[in-house]
Amino acid sequence: MIIKTDSKAVALQLAVMDQSEPEADLSCDGVYVGKTLRYRLPFFLDNTKLVNPHVSVVGMTGSGKTYLVKSLLAGLSVDRHYSVFIIDWNSEYSDMVEFLCGRVWKAVRAADLPAIEHLVEGVNSVDLSAAPSDTEKAALAGVMLSMVRKFILSLRPGSDTKMVLVVDEAWKLANLKQDLGKLFREGRKFGLMVIAATQLVGDVNNEVLSNAACSFVFRLQGSDNLNGLVSSGLLEPGHTAVAQTLERGSCIVSLIYRGGSAPRRFMLEHVHGFDFRTYTIRGGSMTVNVSVRKLGSVLGSMGFGGDATMRIERFFAENSGGVDIARLVGFLFGVGLGRADVFTFLRAIGIKDRSIAVAIEAIRGVAFEE
Ligand SMILES: Nc1ncnc2c1ncn2[C@@H]1O[C@H](COP(=O)(O)OP(=O)(O)OP(=O)(O)O)[C@@H](O)[C@H]1O
Ligand SMILES: [Mg+2]
Repeated sequence: MIIKTDSKAVALQLAVMDQSEPEADLSCDGVYVGKTLRYRLPFFLDNTKLVNPHVSVVGMTGSGKTYLVKSLLAGLSVDRHYSVFIIDWNSEYSDMVEFLCGRVWKAVRAADLPAIEHLVEGVNSVDLSAAPSDTEKAALAGVMLSMVRKFILSLRPGSDTKMVLVVDEAWKLANLKQDLGKLFREGRKFGLMVIAATQLVGDVNNEVLSNAACSFVFRLQGSDNLNGLVSSGLLEPGHTAVAQTLERGSCIVSLIYRGGSAPRRFMLEHVHGFDFRTYTIRGGSMTVNVSVRKLGSVLGSMGFGGDATMRIERFFAENSGGVDIARLVGFLFGVGLGRADVFTFLRAIGIKDRSIAVAIEAIRGVAFEE
């Protein structure tokens, strides 16, 4: 059989990204984004290794920006325990926020906006879809940017806030580019990560986008846009042809590592959608949600194969996705994990040492009574 490919597009793409695909991050630290085009290495975005935590996403309509942002957010929230705050123009994120047990706040006027304290814990979006016009939406977004700025400036520099602010369709904030720029510059010191996604590069401050240490460039057309990216250093001149041929979900990634000089660029074959299934572990006042994907990657990094993962997944499935920690510990001992492995595993999925110790003692108590 002859497989016909668009050889010109493939050749262009391979030529661009010869140099610097990321090394496979076996520790799985970070959020899984997808596989690289050339060597099919898994790419985990770990923004703590970059010169700043910010992410910019650029591409034409329908190229896959929001899909990527949702995937990053879900990973950051579920696997990395970030709080998430989304400025949502069109109610595009409501489903995801509800899935992540967060809260959607609807706002039509400034008086509807909740106090910042409500927006910096857990997962929150402010849904502006009912505001009467884009001008009014932008005004509300401006108020929120100021609220976030005031909040982060009230924190101690170097504080471990772990918060992500999402501004999708950032081109709508053309008049607020200075406010956004300030958050990019100041956020790093206070643990704020900003994700800004936009279609039209020229209308948003190129400087804002190029200040992100991680950028994703999806399919893009128009010489203004492409030249804008080149002049702000997000794209190399030789990459503009590739940027015009990218398929939906495929993108060019640039990363500026701490201590590194030039950005490392490579192509992502396809952004991987987040597996939204999660399991819940309860005990006393504790509730920990862990994604299916995180569970698999922790077990994999501990050297357990697919069989152990499958048995543990089946255990959760049989319990409708939620189990008591003491029962889970009992099950893990039952499938042959030792005390140290049980501790390592539960700690890696986000359970506090004290809760683990209490659960292990509870199991011992039962075993002793028997
Ligand atoms: N990597 C992907 N895998 C599977 N489907 C995808 C992927 N990326 C995007 N899609 C699908 O393509 C459609 C458009 O994607 P998306 O909404 O992310 O585009 P966008 O770049 O945000 O566009 P706009 O600028 O108009 O908001 C959606 O239905 C989305 O589910
Ligand atoms: Mg979008």
